[in-house]
Amino acid sequence: MFLRHFPPMGIYETLFRFADATQAYLGDAGTHPWAQGYPLTRQLPGGPSIPASVSFGPDDLRYPNASGQIELREALVRYYRTFYGANLTEENIAVFPGGRPGIMAILALLEEDIEITIEETEYTPYHDSLRLIGRAPEVVPSNPENRFRPTLEDHARALDSADRALLVKSNPCNPTGVTWSGDSLRALVELASRPGKGALIDEAYEFFHTPEPDSALRYIEDIDRTDIFVVGAATKGLQVPGARIGWVVASKEHCELFRNLSSIAMGGVSRLSQLLVTSLLEIDRVGEARRAVGAFFASQRERYGNALTELGFELFTGEGGFYHWGRIPGGMTAHELNDRLFRHDAAILPGRLCDMDRREQGPHETLMRFSFGPIPAEDFEGDVEILRTCLTGVGAR
Ligand SMILES: Cc1ncc(COP(=O)(O)O)c(C=O)c1O
Repeated sequence: MFLRHFPPMGIYETLFRFADATQAYLGDAGTHPWAQGYPLTRQLPGGPSIPASVSFGPDDLRYPNASGQIELREALVRYYRTFYGANLTEENIAVFPGGRPGIMAILALLEEDIEITIEETEYTPYHDSLRLIGRAPEVVPSNPENRFRPTLEDHARALDSADRALLVKSNPCNPTGVTWSGDSLRALVELASRPGKGALIDEAYEFFHTPEPDSALRYIEDIDRTDIFVVGAATKGLQVPGARIGWVVASKEHCELFRNLSSIAMGGVSRLSQLLVTSLLEIDRVGEARRAVGAFFASQRERYGNALTELGFELFTGEGGFYHWGRIPGGMTAHELNDRLFRHDAAILPGRLCDMDRREQGPHETLMRFSFGPIPAEDFEGDVEILRTCLTGVGAR
């Protein structure tokens, strides 16, 4: 074999184990994809309709612009200016085929001497991406002892452990839902705006925060004078994971490098997908989407939270995202719970896959991420029944 071997992203471990046990794909009709990180792709109560077609002409079939089409970049500037008063131009935006390719581009292009700092409990592919590019991060404690809530001082200590350092952080955090907003987000931005410091702030779950969304871009005065990268995606809030559109907001100089990389390795991003996402960002529509997504998932977070607590889970979930993060009752491991759930065509994501140290036996072994992102509201009672059956005799009340 000529290529270096590497395994798929951690979440696939669960998908493969599920497929082996059930001969089905998690997410197919009749399954309960609580391990999965995609949102409902149907219209939400009070939300805008989701387009069923895209209109395009012969010119749209030409190669795309390497940085992203100007219409989409202008729509994003308008969006960030309207909702956060952000000080940006379209030269501060680079479009990618999803959030992960943007994240991977930043990490892969990072200068050798830059220390990467990351919370102990984070989004699975951060670990896989860092491993793929051979970088070992400085880990900031985020575990049951601090209830998965590292402080500003914890981040300052990690960032100051090297001359130059980049914080990599999802906000809202996947899997914990813990979210920095308002003054705490402003302080984090200030920390990462100091000379030699920077941050990759991944806002994939921006819309999914109660009481309202926030963005680091509200607090960045002049992004051209920072090493801050704000990652966004149409994947979650705009409910179109299949469109494969994401973007990085960064200094003009950094965006030029993304353009160069795109011209060598990517060839731009599907113009048809960019047309779709540009239409989703029309200001009135996206305002409606922010409200509807926020309200629907806040109510799902609350009722699944109450049900899981009643079943004996110890939840650590914050106010963002579409996951519950907690400890399984009765000392049961996530693998044991999944073996039981598989019999009901259901699965959760084992906490270990969100451990940035990916320890076999560590504090994450009895933790799980329960996703209510792809779950229609009407599944609630049935879902709780499955969980109750699988927990009978192990601490369920
Ligand atoms: C924290 C986080 N960032 C980014 C993404 C973006 O993913 P995609 O590459 O599918 O746009 C996801 C999706 O699961 C996510 O959870």
